[in-house]
Amino acid sequence: MSRILVTGSADGLGRAAADTLLSQGHEVVVHARNPSRAAALRELVDQGAQLVVGDFADRDAVRGVASELADAAPLDAVIHNAGVWSGRAVMPVNIIAPYLLTALLPEPRRLVYLSSGSHFSGRPSVDRVDWSGRTPGSYGDSKLFVTALAAAVARLRPEVLSNAVDPGWVPTRMGGPGAPDDLELGHRTQEWLATSDDPKALTTSGYWYHQERQEPHLAAHDVTFQDRLLQALAQETGTTL
Ligand SMILES: NC(=O)c1ccc[n+]([C@@H]2O[C@H](COP(=O)([O-])OP(=O)(O)OC[C@H]3O[C@@H](n4cnc5c(N)ncnc54)[C@H](OP(=O)(O)O)[C@@H]3O)[C@@H](O)[C@H]2O)c1
Repeated sequence: MSRILVTGSADGLGRAAADTLLSQGHEVVVHARNPSRAAALRELVDQGAQLVVGDFADRDAVRGVASELADAAPLDAVIHNAGVWSGRAVMPVNIIAPYLLTALLPEPRRLVYLSSGSHFSGRPSVDRVDWSGRTPGSYGDSKLFVTALAAAVARLRPEVLSNAVDPGWVPTRMGGPGAPDDLELGHRTQEWLATSDDPKALTTSGYWYHQERQEPHLAAHDVTFQDRLLQALAQETGTTL
């Protein structure tokens, strides 16, 4: 049995992953942005899930969640799932929050970051990026950054299994009702990477789609780009990895 945090678990793929992991007997920490969204998690909390609350568009709230978790039982895995498609929260939620949690929660041995096929359209540059969310951010850029973060963590923490997942275009609130890919397959890879002892899942630095490794954007494995990204994130947040 593992203890796993699933960020953004009030809805969509995060909710489905939390539900599955709980039903498999794992200890699950679910996360909602505020108390009113936490109400959507009551059923999982009633089944034994621990709840943390914090709006990931707000760095102080991310730090609050990290410090609450640092005082609790250690986590075995984190699924960095919370994400937004557009608007000012894109950079704060899609890259700043997973970066801060990664830096502030050093003990989990398995880290899974939600990427997207859209990361291929991302610009591999940290110049002129508005990390703070004063202006709308590019989803493709944010997903390229989080894919490179996953690979950088794999390089810098060899004891950690750090992987990125493209869940496919699936019919959640974000994906929309007409999304063509399989919703069930959309969360299975994250659960598998977070918990399975299958030798295929016990690998690091992967970019996965439906339990198969694929090649991400070349920049994700470019050490110079990774280092520039980590430096920009450290400078922006005042927190190093
Ligand atoms: N669906 C797709 O086709 C697709 C494709 C590629 C990648 N992805 C990625 O998969 C992940 C999950 O997406 P999804 O399709 O499940 O989206 P979703 O249905 O919109 O769910 C997103 C989750 O993130 C949470 N969240 C958003 N902003 C937050 C904030 N400021 N603070 C805390 N939590 C926040 C949401 O909470 P609320 O419910 O309170 O808003 C919700 O639980 C995302 O990272 C997304 O980029 C999805």
